[in-house]
Amino acid sequence: MKKIAFHILKGGVGKTTISGNIGAYLASKGKTVVIDADLQGNLSSWLFKGKELEFTLVDYLVGRCSLEAVIQPISDNFYLLPTASGDNELKQWAETQLSNDPFAFIALSDALTKANFLYAIFDLSPSISLLERSIIGACNEVVIPLEAEMFSLDGLESFIENLTDIEKKYRTNIKHDILVCNKLNRSLGRQTAIYQQIQTLSNHGYEIYTIPQDARLAECPLYHETIFETQHRQRSEKKLKPHEELKSIPQIKALGDVLCR
Ligand SMILES: Nc1ncnc2c1ncn2[C@@H]1O[C@H](COP(=O)(O)OP(=O)(O)OP(=O)(O)O)[C@@H](O)[C@H]1O
Ligand SMILES: [Mg+2]
Repeated sequence: MKKIAFHILKGGVGKTTISGNIGAYLASKGKTVVIDADLQGNLSSWLFKGKELEFTLVDYLVGRCSLEAVIQPISDNFYLLPTASGDNELKQWAETQLSNDPFAFIALSDALTKANFLYAIFDLSPSISLLERSIIGACNEVVIPLEAEMFSLDGLESFIENLTDIEKKYRTNIKHDILVCNKLNRSLGRQTAIYQQIQTLSNHGYEIYTIPQDARLAECPLYHETIFETQHRQRSEKKLKPHEELKSIPQIKALGDVLCR
């Protein structure tokens, strides 16, 4: 099973938006779970269309429920391991128990592999507490989302330093050479200039992908749907021609294709 986290020490860059939509795309390739490991629970509020959540991630971590009981089916081959919005219990567990159980997320990954998942995507909050460290330490790859905005690269350097620490602690190598420049609006001169600066990072071994600014992506949580469902709905409402794609879809697919290679 491939374990991928979207992370950088910067809020609002699109970690949740990309995690959910890439997860939906990877589900077309194999059994995929997106794990909401952000105490804000944004990914869960977006993707979970059911009523009350009986169990959430923390219930599984403390041994209160089985994996089958906590994982929610979203669509074909696509599952969510949810977190409740503002989950204080997860926060408390991470602050008080996780240090005694630093391999908790490696154990979770093993259980997901046994349940035949091929891809696990972790959505994290923009901090680097023990919770994020222990999840990243269990991953094969971290993808770094950025915006072409002022100070966008500020979080990158400290993130790389933290990653080196995590690799040492967990005695692992974590692939981290994919940058995603999200919400790119090439009609803004400011963004074009910063994007050119971001592109120079390819000289330092980074592969750079872009996702355009797309109002349809921003609306996805409102309708509790992924961009692929939005496209499907809009085609059936005849707002799109039968083969027309929403503008962010080719780039999301391109990123998904590289992540599953
Ligand atoms: N490509 C895009 N085009 C337009 N809007 C976008 C795009 N990507 C994300 N957004 C919007 O930007 C905002 C922040 O996105 P998101 O919540 O995914 O960021 P985040 O990095 O997960 O934030 P946090 O750090 O709070 O977890 C949301 O309103 C989202 O709808
Ligand atoms: Mg988020």
